[in-house]
Amino acid sequence: MCGIVGYIGPKEAVGVLMDGLKRLEYRGYDSSGIAVLENGKVTLRRAVGKLEKLQAVLLKNPLQGRSGIGHTRWATHGRPSEENAHPHIEGGVAVVHNGIIENYLALKEELKKEGAHFKSETDTEVISHLIHREIKNGKKLAEAVRRAVSRLKGTYALAVISEDEPDKLVGARMECPLAVGVGEHETMLSSDITAILNITRKAIFLQDGELVVITPDGVEITTFDGAKVTRPATHIDWSPVMAEKSGFRHFMLKEIFEQPRVVADTFRGSVIEEKGDVFLNNFNMRAADIDKIVIVACGTSWHAGLVGKFLFEELAKIPVEVDLASEFRYRDPLVDKKTLVLAISQSGETADTLAAVKEAKKKGASVISVCNVIESSLTRETAWSFMTHAGPEIGVASTKAFTTQLVALYLIAVRLGRESGRVSPEFGKTLIHDLVTLSKKIEHILDSAGRIEALAKKYFHFRDFIYLGRGINYPIALEGALKLKEVSYIHAEGYAAGEMKHGPIALIDEDMPVVVLAPQDASYPKMLGNMEEVRARGGRIIAVVTEGDKEAVLKADDVITIPAASHRLTPLLLTVPLQFLAYYIAVLKGTDVDQPRNLAKSVTVE
Ligand code: M6R
Repeated sequence: MCGIVGYIGPKEAVGVLMDGLKRLEYRGYDSSGIAVLENGKVTLRRAVGKLEKLQAVLLKNPLQGRSGIGHTRWATHGRPSEENAHPHIEGGVAVVHNGIIENYLALKEELKKEGAHFKSETDTEVISHLIHREIKNGKKLAEAVRRAVSRLKGTYALAVISEDEPDKLVGARMECPLAVGVGEHETMLSSDITAILNITRKAIFLQDGELVVITPDGVEITTFDGAKVTRPATHIDWSPVMAEKSGFRHFMLKEIFEQPRVVADTFRGSVIEEKGDVFLNNFNMRAADIDKIVIVACGTSWHAGLVGKFLFEELAKIPVEVDLASEFRYRDPLVDKKTLVLAISQSGETADTLAAVKEAKKKGASVISVCNVIESSLTRETAWSFMTHAGPEIGVASTKAFTTQLVALYLIAVRLGRESGRVSPEFGKTLIHDLVTLSKKIEHILDSAGRIEALAKKYFHFRDFIYLGRGINYPIALEGALKLKEVSYIHAEGYAAGEMKHGPIALIDEDMPVVVLAPQDASYPKMLGNMEEVRARGGRIIAVVTEGDKEAVLKADDVITIPAASHRLTPLLLTVPLQFLAYYIAVLKGTDVDQPRNLAKSVTVE
């Protein structure tokens, strides 16, 4: 978590840094700060809270300079306070850091014995001291950073400026993302590419163990051992507008509305309608070589994995286990070279997912991924990646990334099914047809935004919710509940509807709205039974049903409809109204929808 940014070039650095930080704020928003080389002096502004607080500080006390660094923080070591906010300065050296320095206490003791005075509780401050010590001993900035990082254990992306060498910025990376934006006579460093889009769409992605020196006209990358690295810039497809709200009140709402397009973008180019097949570039997995698939992911991506299990088992007939990445890595998981491990992550930077991938690779498994961010750590760690085309997802609550992940899993499942012959060409055609008609159906659901907003007015004051689903829709009950709790701070639980009678039914009374997912599928009669059970105990039912439903509507207090679809794609359609419900309830409750408290978009700590 945390976002770092650096700029050197002809523009006023503050404007570029603040714009970059705005785009990185989703990574953490406990405090923020920038340091600029103003008249040769490293000058600092920091503030507790969201970026607008720093903006206010800068209005009162402006800064001027053509190079600088900035940071938006998700607190790990030390509470959110001005002293703990980055940048950290020591003797003319300023540092911003994303990651965790595991051996900072030992380093702090060592530096204190030499007379160092620490001003914060952070792990980061040891880095500015270490670099300053090297500069005092006569080292140039890049060498000083190289020597400093050789003492660090842990994870980091760093950006450093120094009064001694005002013509450059230095960056370093170890297990936290760092990209270099290569503009016309201006260069940037950033935790992710959204922050550089206003100056350039050309980026070079640093790899672990690399250090970079940037000037307005140059980028020099070396390994920590000093070996020169030559790497061409990658062209970024994302535009600055894609990372803006474009008139929507919140990113979350904009991203919900983008789903018809991004879902189509994700399957377009992969489906071959006339053959009833899927083309996946460089994907050469054969079902016969795979004993089982293990899906690892966290949060919403894990919910996508749970849906994926149904798709893979039904279409490819390969057994699937779905593991929370944070659990997988702390067991001794049974995977070997006949296991296909599939990691799912929007950001590609989730620490637990990356650690699970490393564990699986150690055990000899083939590891592939579904990811939304090119050149992210996950795409580099895995042998093959399917890139979803959700575009930048800025709202902390994942919406369009989830639905595009479902599309990705569907495509891979169809491919494995076709490759193994378990899906015939005819059946393949039906499967592809179902997929390509999906966007229109999502568009249709978007038309019901107003009705769901009205429903939110009726329900936003409740303190607890239950979501029920069965089979392939059970993960959607989990996802609906997660969405509600993270953006509205209302307690919500998702349950497999069949489990109700084994405990949760005790919770049902008139104060407990129950969101029942009851589309027309094989488990519909059972869902009707669950609705009766809830009604008998006075619970209020919001049913999400297929258009034209005759029975569930009679049992529910309120109804949301979705168009008819194959059971394999119903999860995707059911998700959209649940996103709306969570969103509108959160707006009515006045929470910070795009940046809910305590959360960060990329969870890069374990
Ligand atoms: O970037 P990832 O998909 O790996 O992130 C995983 C989770 O942190 C993420 O899905 C989280 O649960 C979201 N806040 C859910 O909306």
